[in-house]
Amino acid sequence: LLTYVILCQVLGASGDLAKKKTYPALFGIFRNGFLPEGTRIIGYARTQLDLANFHERITGHMKTPNDEIKKQLSDFLKLCTYVSGQYDKDEDYQRLNKAVEKVESLNEHEKKNRVFYMALPPSVFIPVAKGLKKNVYSTKGINRLIVEKPFGMDLDSSRELGKALAPLWKEEETYRIDHYLGKEMVKNLLIIRFANVFFGAIWNRQSIANVQITFKEKIGTEGRGGYFDEFGIIRDVMQNHLLQMLSIAAMERPVSLSAEDVRDEKVRVLRCIPPVKLEDTLLGQYTKSEDNSKPGYLEDKTVPAGSTCPTFAACTLWINNDRWEGVPFILKCGKALNEQKAEIRVQFQDVPGSIFKNASRNELVIRVQPNEAVYMKMTNKLPGLSMDTVISELDLTYNRRFSDLKIPDAYESLILDVLKGDHSNFVRDDELDAAWKIFTPILHKIDNEKIEPQPYAYGTRGPPGVEEFVSKYGFKRDTQE
Ligand code: BG6
Repeated sequence: LLTYVILCQVLGASGDLAKKKTYPALFGIFRNGFLPEGTRIIGYARTQLDLANFHERITGHMKTPNDEIKKQLSDFLKLCTYVSGQYDKDEDYQRLNKAVEKVESLNEHEKKNRVFYMALPPSVFIPVAKGLKKNVYSTKGINRLIVEKPFGMDLDSSRELGKALAPLWKEEETYRIDHYLGKEMVKNLLIIRFANVFFGAIWNRQSIANVQITFKEKIGTEGRGGYFDEFGIIRDVMQNHLLQMLSIAAMERPVSLSAEDVRDEKVRVLRCIPPVKLEDTLLGQYTKSEDNSKPGYLEDKTVPAGSTCPTFAACTLWINNDRWEGVPFILKCGKALNEQKAEIRVQFQDVPGSIFKNASRNELVIRVQPNEAVYMKMTNKLPGLSMDTVISELDLTYNRRFSDLKIPDAYESLILDVLKGDHSNFVRDDELDAAWKIFTPILHKIDNEKIEPQPYAYGTRGPPGVEEFVSKYGFKRDTQE
């Protein structure tokens, strides 16, 4: 028996996570028949709402294209109730506890397991974690707490948060979400690397020239500029999502697939990465689009005037170990760019002593989104009477190869992991610490010295210096699409 308590905000942009991700993911799990029998879901937030109103809010992002799904949604909503209360009042949490006990009493199962999902701004993390522990913690079963980033602003604040949470919630009860770890292609990385003999042999500095990990979004910070400005793009996606992809791409083979073995290797490789230097960094901030139809970052009313917050960053990281010494890992991310894309691009070395004029570098590309794919760029004979070469692809595009299979949403996959008690795809405390160590010095420099980002127009490829930046680290554009 399980009660799933979602602490969320239901109003404004801060309610986005619950509305766009958490509830739709739970509905997905329910539809696929994976929600454990007897599960009940209770929303908790400050706003007073009746049940109908609450249901209306949480279903805004759920698609019901046919009657069957409509019926499933109405069955799902029967499991979803709502309690309103403050985040810092014991008596409100006691009311929540009563509501939980009430749904638990409907079931005779001895175990009363509870999962708490904090889809909340970090300012209330500690009071809520305390309030829950003191008033709503189950004494008759397992308790699990899901937390979402931001986990602090830098190494010190992250440690402070950790120190405040640790006495309340044990590490094995805590699930720190980085939703990129739930993405199908990020999960696939481990399999591509360690279940294919040919990659094992060439996955090192002898064969690989550079690795680029890219995250691009077409939209700007519209609607959440004020929130974004406190963090900037490095804290928003690079220190977490991009670094997670890097750690799986670069780690040694874990002893086993157990959560601790996998995370041990991720921590080990992160600890080999020295802090990012300013000279290995390029920052950008978007201005209005060339056709004037989209506003620049500073035109967003919620953004403080004259903000130097980066909305684009490229940082090159180095891994000081036998496998990777000297191989640049170029992380690039930005908002308001020309396309939406997340991918890992491994560029191999030039063919030594090539006898062909145009032999290009091989590349392995793992496209995380959209349109998931794994493809390998290779040089091939151009069919015909000449010995001319052509760059071609070994192409595993998912919607062709696996067209009959649905790729689950990252949150569905992660929430299911929490229900199963599997920590593999969640961030461990020492992993978080290692990640902050890499980025804290550069973040402090950017914040304190107000480093000017280079402007780029909304909808372009980023600041003009980006091409030069990647070629400085040996990336050869001629082999890229
Ligand atoms: C979030 C960031 O963690 O990830 C957002 O805070 C970003 O700014 C989002 O848009 C991207 O996630 P996805 O799954 O849409 O690539």
